[in-house]
Amino acid sequence: MSTGTMKKSHSQWSSRMGFMLAAAGSAVGLGNIWKFPYMAGQMGGSAFVLTYLLFMFIIGMPILVLEWLIGRRGQKNPIHTMEDVAVSEGHSKSWRWVGIIGVLGSFLILSFYSVIGGWATDYIVLAAKGTFEGVNGKTTALIFDNFKADVGSLLTWHTVFMFATAFIVALGVGAGLERGCKLMMPGLGILLLVLVGYAIYASGPAFYKACDFLFTPNWSALNGTAILAALGHAFFSLSLGMGIMMAYGSYLGKDVDLLSTARTVVILDVVVAVLSGIAIFPLVFANGLEPAAGPGLIFVTLPIAFGNMIGGTVLGILFFIFLTFAALTSSISLLEPTVELLEEKTHMGRKTATIVISILIWALGIACILSFNKWADVKFFDKNIFDSLDYLTSKIMLPITGLGTVIFGAYMMKQKRIQEELNLTNFWFKIWRVLTSIVIPIAIVAILVFGLQH
Ligand code: PHE
Repeated sequence: MSTGTMKKSHSQWSSRMGFMLAAAGSAVGLGNIWKFPYMAGQMGGSAFVLTYLLFMFIIGMPILVLEWLIGRRGQKNPIHTMEDVAVSEGHSKSWRWVGIIGVLGSFLILSFYSVIGGWATDYIVLAAKGTFEGVNGKTTALIFDNFKADVGSLLTWHTVFMFATAFIVALGVGAGLERGCKLMMPGLGILLLVLVGYAIYASGPAFYKACDFLFTPNWSALNGTAILAALGHAFFSLSLGMGIMMAYGSYLGKDVDLLSTARTVVILDVVVAVLSGIAIFPLVFANGLEPAAGPGLIFVTLPIAFGNMIGGTVLGILFFIFLTFAALTSSISLLEPTVELLEEKTHMGRKTATIVISILIWALGIACILSFNKWADVKFFDKNIFDSLDYLTSKIMLPITGLGTVIFGAYMMKQKRIQEELNLTNFWFKIWRVLTSIVIPIAIVAILVFGLQH
C-alpha cells in the first residue's frame, strides 16, 4: 500500500481492516517465502527458526507498536515525525537520524528486492511455458543456474519489476493494488497449504526430517551469526527500522487498538514464513538438495512440486503470480519513503521524484545482478555485492534504527500517555516497560556487538 495514495484519497484509514491489510501487505512478501527458508537453511535450521520466532514476538512486536504509535503522533514522513515528536517531548531534533537511516535502508533494500521480485515474475512465464513439467531436483537446479547466469534475462525482469513498482507509486494507484491483495493474500495462503499437503504426501520420511530440521531445538548450531541473522530478519520481515510502519501509523485513527492489530500482523507474518518452510524443506531433503543453497532455494524446490503434481502447471502459474503481487505490495512500501522525501525537499513533482529514485535503485540493482554471475568475485569483507547489501541493511542498519526507536519510546516519551494509548493495565504496562526499557535495548546491543564479530 502506498502511503501517498492514502493521503490523497482519505486522511485516515477507512477501517482497521484496511490498515491491517496495508500493513500486512508490506510485511508479507519475499521476506517470508524466499528469504526466511533460505536463511533457515544456511543457519542450520531450528536454532535460527526458534530464535527468529522468539524475536518476532518479544522484539519485533513491541517495536512495531512503537513505530505506529510515534507515527500516529507525528502525522508526517518518518524523518519529520521523529523530529516533531522529539521536539514536542522536549528533546533534540537530532532524533531525525533514526528516520534518515531508515529511509536510506529502504532505498538500499529495494535494489536487491527488485532483482528477486524479477525472478518471481520470470517464474510465472517459465511455469506457463510448461518448463517445470516432470522436472526433478537436478533439472530445476540447472534451470535456475542458467537463469542466474543469463544477465540479459535477469536485467529484463528486474527492469519489469522495478517499472511496475515505480508505475504504481508514481500514479498513486496503490489502492487498486490493495483491493487486488484482498484476493491474492488468501489465495497465497491456500496455495501454501496445498504445497504443504503435497510435501507431506510426496516426500515420505523426508517430511519428518524437515520438521525435525526446522523445529527440534539444536541449540549447538546457535552462534553469534545466526542470532544476528534472526534479529535482522525479524526487522526485515515486519518492515521495521525503515520508518515504513511509522509512515503507516500517521494514517491511523485514534480508536485503533495498536497492540491487538500488531499481534495479528505478527502472527500472519510468522504463519506465512513457517508454512513456506514446511512446504520447501521436505522437497529439499527428498530430492537430495542442499539446504544451504542460498537465495535460489525456493526457485529450485517449489518447481519440483509444480512439475509433478496434478494441476501443477496452473498452480505454479498462480503461485508465482501471487508471489509477485506479495512482492509488489512490499516494494511499493519500500519506494514510497524516498520518493516522498525527494518530493518534499526538492519541490520535484511526484512523478519526477519517482522516476529519479527508481532509476538510481534500478542501477544499484544491476550491480546486484552482476554479483550472481560476472562480478561474483567482487567481494567486500568476503561477501559479494548482493550479500553485502543484505548484510549492511538487515544486520546493521535495521537493528540500529530499531534500537533508536525503542530507546526513544522508552526513555524520551512520557510513559503515562503511552500506557493510556495502549490501554494497558498496570500489570501489563510493567511488562511493557521492562521489555522496552531494558530487555530489548540490551538484547539489540549485545546481539550487534557479539554478532558482528563472528
Ligand atoms: N517485509 C517485507 C518482506 O518480508 C520486506 C520489506 C522490508 C518491505 C522492509 C518493506 C520494508 O518481504
